[in-house]
Amino acid sequence: MTGDLIPGAAGAAPADASVDPDLVVSLDGVGVRRSGTALLHDVHWRVEVDERWVVLGPNGAGKTTLLNLAAGRLFPTTGTAHVLGERIGRTDVNELRTRIGLTTAALAERLPADERVSDVVVTAAWSVVGRWRESYERADEARARALLGQLGVGGLADRTYGTLSEGERKRVQIARALMTDPELLLLDEPAAGLDLGGREDLVARLSELAYDPDAPAMVLVTHHVEEIPPGFTHAMLLREGSVVAQGLLGDTLTGDNLSKTFGLPLIVDRAGDRYTARAA
Ligand SMILES: Nc1ncnc2c1ncn2[C@@H]1O[C@H](COP(=O)(O)OP(=O)(O)O)[C@@H](O)[C@H]1O
Ligand SMILES: [Mg+2]
Repeated sequence: MTGDLIPGAAGAAPADASVDPDLVVSLDGVGVRRSGTALLHDVHWRVEVDERWVVLGPNGAGKTTLLNLAAGRLFPTTGTAHVLGERIGRTDVNELRTRIGLTTAALAERLPADERVSDVVVTAAWSVVGRWRESYERADEARARALLGQLGVGGLADRTYGTLSEGERKRVQIARALMTDPELLLLDEPAAGLDLGGREDLVARLSELAYDPDAPAMVLVTHHVEEIPPGFTHAMLLREGSVVAQGLLGDTLTGDNLSKTFGLPLIVDRAGDRYTARAA
């Protein structure tokens, strides 16, 4: 809202009164078409504040499109989409975006390699509070360091971002996404390109976050069931832009559903709170 003098008050605009305040994402019959192709078709989806969703599907299934919708970065062609009480396409998207943490490969590419790691994180807040940043520098710096510590990379705060390993960068990117204290955290394939150790470390950090009752609602996109962090509660399975199955993780992640999603016979095994999949 213009005229707001209090940093952080950007999210205080009254939400659409008809929308359930516990609903973080609400899609009703949402379709997205580009050049005559349906990237998403008739998607109905509800994400509540305490839920942690994993979105699974093969390449091209529409996962990133779904995430961009939830991030307010893309408008539906058909149907209605509400995010954090705001109707996508009828709201100030820039204001909405400050309430959402997002990591994608495309955003990661824009991070300057020569910047100090703590600055990579702290600048996420500066872009939100704008000219008020001067008086908040110290608090922001402390928050950035705390978040880096939470993600297990606190010791790297003064390193140059470009010198970090891929796994370390991924964790810095998530710390950056959390910097503005978002109400919704969206992660697009955060474990892509990591080696086994890097993946396991990231899964453990995301699991901690998933179990944290103060953490925002989360949506994690992946195509590997091995990357599902313990503590995640729900799953949506996408194939060719359509929902194959969705609901509670344990109910949804069946061999049958996964076989339909990936188009080949698959067996899903569960060991404790981790999943694996292989061809039947
Ligand atoms: N602007 C666009 N125009 C046409 N097709 C697109 C466009 N953007 C994405 N697509 C296609 O839409 C499909 C879904 O893309 P995406 O959501 O990125 O899938 P995923 O993240 O599951 O791999 C892909 O086949 C992709 O090539
Ligand atoms: Mg994608």
